[in-house]
Amino acid sequence: MQEHNVEYNDYETYFAERRILMFNTFFKFQPNRKLSDVIVNTEGLEPDNLPRHIAIIMDGNGRWAKERGNLRTYGHKVGAETLKTIVKASNNLGIEVITAYAFSTENWKRPMKEVRFIMNLIKRYLTAEIQEFKDYNVQIRFMGSREGLPDFMNETMDHAIEETKDNTGIILNLAINYGGQAEILHAVKSIAQQVTDGTLKIEDIDVPVFENNLYSKGLPSPDLLIRTGGDLRVSNFLLWQIAYSEIWTTQVYWPDFTPDMLVEAIKMYQKRERRFGGLVKK
Ligand code: FPP
Repeated sequence: MQEHNVEYNDYETYFAERRILMFNTFFKFQPNRKLSDVIVNTEGLEPDNLPRHIAIIMDGNGRWAKERGNLRTYGHKVGAETLKTIVKASNNLGIEVITAYAFSTENWKRPMKEVRFIMNLIKRYLTAEIQEFKDYNVQIRFMGSREGLPDFMNETMDHAIEETKDNTGIILNLAINYGGQAEILHAVKSIAQQVTDGTLKIEDIDVPVFENNLYSKGLPSPDLLIRTGGDLRVSNFLLWQIAYSEIWTTQVYWPDFTPDMLVEAIKMYQKRERRFGGLVKK
């Protein structure tokens, strides 16, 4: 497994952030919207036909920031706030799980400065801001490979799990160092090991057994997959789990995604006829 060297003390990132923060404070954007501020207009939604699990590809942070003459990393910072808003809106609606693609196995190819920024952003999100998630009864979980992540990330993730494990509201499942193909390979290896050890028979391998060996063990499959930023691809996200997910995409960049757009996506979902390969019940 490749080792990735990501240090927490990155002064360049720190000062870039400070500049952005000053700019926002004085001129433009208030980044610290609280989860409690989110009001969702539920008019036209069918409360008994909500998706249990929504998966989100939060794309377009970099383009959003560039279009505003800012660093790409600023887009991630605002994107992280957007996620908080959407988690709160989803919690208010009664959605059970949000799985958000925060860092893919392919994102290591980005400039190390951007990688470090995202890691540090996630760290701050899960430490300095953890109380906000606790106040709103959000349970934090993760999917992805822990190998190759810097120690400070693994410690941060364990801490966030521990701090929120008894919360009974929405589950925020963050995909970090996650790739769908890597996840399937991981499950195959784990199953092969169980067969070798004699604890599992080949003839007993079925869909539930396979799913028990995925990172998403215990979670329902996503009913709805949302992708922002205009691209129409799956990008190695939840390859097994989205077999029958309904897909909704928008040109809107992730930092501009709003609770109203979430409701729009859910309304589309409620109009879809889900057949799971069968026929419609008359
Ligand atoms: C895609 O935008 C986004 C990512 C690769 C990272 C997503 C990360 C966040 C929203 C912030 C961190 C998350 C947490 C939980 C704190 P892009 O950079 O590919 O945008 P582009 O397509 O415009 O280049």
